[in-house]
Amino acid sequence: MKDIIITGGAGFIGSNLVRAAIEHFTDRRIVNFDKLTYAGNLENLAGLEKHPRYCFIKGDVAEPEDVARAFAGDVEGVMHLAAESHVDRSIHDASPFIKSNVLGTQVLLDAARLKKIHKFVHVSTDEVYGSLGTNGKFTETTPLAANSPYSASKAGSDLLVRAAFHTHKFPGCITRCSNNYGPYQFPEKLVPLLISNALENKPIPVYGDGKNVRDWLFVEDHCAALMRVYESGAPGEVYNIGGDNELENLTLVRTVLRMLGRPESLITFVKDRPGHDRRYAIDASKIRRELNWEPAHKFEDAIRKTIDWYQANPPWWRRVKSGEYREYYEKQYGRAM
Ligand code: NAD
Ligand code: TYD
Repeated sequence: MKDIIITGGAGFIGSNLVRAAIEHFTDRRIVNFDKLTYAGNLENLAGLEKHPRYCFIKGDVAEPEDVARAFAGDVEGVMHLAAESHVDRSIHDASPFIKSNVLGTQVLLDAARLKKIHKFVHVSTDEVYGSLGTNGKFTETTPLAANSPYSASKAGSDLLVRAAFHTHKFPGCITRCSNNYGPYQFPEKLVPLLISNALENKPIPVYGDGKNVRDWLFVEDHCAALMRVYESGAPGEVYNIGGDNELENLTLVRTVLRMLGRPESLITFVKDRPGHDRRYAIDASKIRRELNWEPAHKFEDAIRKTIDWYQANPPWWRRVKSGEYREYYEKQYGRAM
């Protein structure tokens, strides 16, 4: 049986993708390769441990010996999600972002090229394009203009995948998706932080004036797009992925509070993120047209489903919000929060 390696499979999008890929690729083994950083959590995959077509390998994408263990089988392809992923952490310390996101991607590319794999889907972000004004959307040809250490490290990794294609005819595709929300997202990101704080009647920190705009996509729609690119994406191509669902942060916060029946007085404006990108918006017409993908979920239904999941799983987010996360939270927002 052939292997598909999913890096970062214990994280938010990765764990949703591992589940979807096991269902979708019924004649392949899914190898989850993950370092289990603070953001990686095997509880996200509870129930899959004994699945005959699932395998977990603990390792670091930036360590060639670890990566060699992941490539020991008959590897058909890779979907690469492993990364340090939080902008605010990259502002405190960029070095893990450079090691995991930039070096890690090159180590993985080298191993994948040696193995002559069939497809490599590099999962990137719309943040590599920088910030938009009030008009326009990011297309695949928008110049890269990353503004945070996180997005700069992702842009660097995108260029390494591009270089592997041009230099070695390596079968790499790059995807650039907008902000995701859904079950199993680490509560340092806006949506799960908002839901879990609201459930505990704790303040909701909103950066700056709350008018920054993000284009929100349900995680299962992102996973479906990634599998479509894995199967049918053309090597060397970039595919933007987005839900045509732009919302100001304050609108999103108010919507969730209303759905939870919690008061707007929980909203607390805090100091803005340095270099905070004002607006992201994705033009996803290429993947819609060429790969026949479109989001299957409406925002109103999927945010409800997401809220229901966090309401039903407080032990999951309470455990995640203890320990090391607590220290980060206090450093980021101060003890008063
Ligand atoms: P996440 O932080 O929830 O998960 C990242 C996973 O990668 C964790 O399981 C972690 O243990 C693992 N990891 C980190 N460094 C590693 C290393 N050196 N070696 C092996 N594993 C390592 O992130 P996420 O939100 O699920 O994002 C996954 C990918 O999707 C990232 O590449 C991110 O840039 C991209 N992306 C995310 C979003 C979003 O809204 N969350 C949007 C677009 C793109
Ligand atoms: P985030 O979930 O960190 O994603 P990204 O920065 O990658 O877009 O943040 C989404 C938006 O929400 C962004 O404009 C920053 C803002 N934000 C807050 O206002 N308060 C918070 O506590 C967090 C984590 C984010």
